[in-house]
Amino acid sequence: MIEIAIDGTAASGKGTLAKNLAKKYGFAHLDTGLLYRKVADELIIKKKDTSSNLVYYSTKIARDLNFLELKKEDLRSEKTAKLASFIATYPKLREILNLKQKEFVIKNKTKFPGCILDGRDIGTKILPNADFKFFIDASIDIRAKRRLLEKNISFLQENDEKCMLQSLIREMKERDKLDSSRITSPLAPAVDAYVIDTSFIDADELLLKVTKIIEGI
Ligand code: CDP
Repeated sequence: MIEIAIDGTAASGKGTLAKNLAKKYGFAHLDTGLLYRKVADELIIKKKDTSSNLVYYSTKIARDLNFLELKKEDLRSEKTAKLASFIATYPKLREILNLKQKEFVIKNKTKFPGCILDGRDIGTKILPNADFKFFIDASIDIRAKRRLLEKNISFLQENDEKCMLQSLIREMKERDKLDSSRITSPLAPAVDAYVIDTSFIDADELLLKVTKIIEGI
């Protein structure tokens, strides 16, 4: 089974790349950020997000998590992402979610010719022996614009758009900082990863670039 690890910053295009590759090659795909987002979302729903015992509640939720039911649309908010990034610093929580990610790979070994995981520590921790590793990044301004577009807001006054962009830039910068500075599995390219900046290329161009690497053309 071919393993592909995709890591990168928020809204860099890593999720779309993972989806496009999975479709092109018929591989299994797991967006590992959804696991962290789901735990964060449950904490908010159960009103435990301000608890002083977040480690206890988040690990309890993580143990019972059925990740086959996860859908990004329900977990998209920056509030959820911010809490996800906060609890993602807990080594105990990462241990539980790491096992779930590895189970996903094992389960799909016989069903699919390949497997793609995208997240923050896939190339460094979850799939250290992956056949291909990619690290995707882009400038913060471009990433914030992409995130705003994803929100699918049909009409915004120019000033409101500027305000939303500024707050997205602030939130994403904070999250990148927390993700890159945590002690356990920080966001960083694996030494053997292809690092790609998507600031000036779109999803199709990125897919083409990556498929050329995979197919050796
Ligand atoms: O879509 P976006 O890149 O904004 O975020 P995500 O992939 O859904 O991940 C949300 C948060 O989960 C990240 O900011 C990380 O703190 C955490 N995460 C992680 O620590 N390790 C992973 N493998 C995936 C996500």
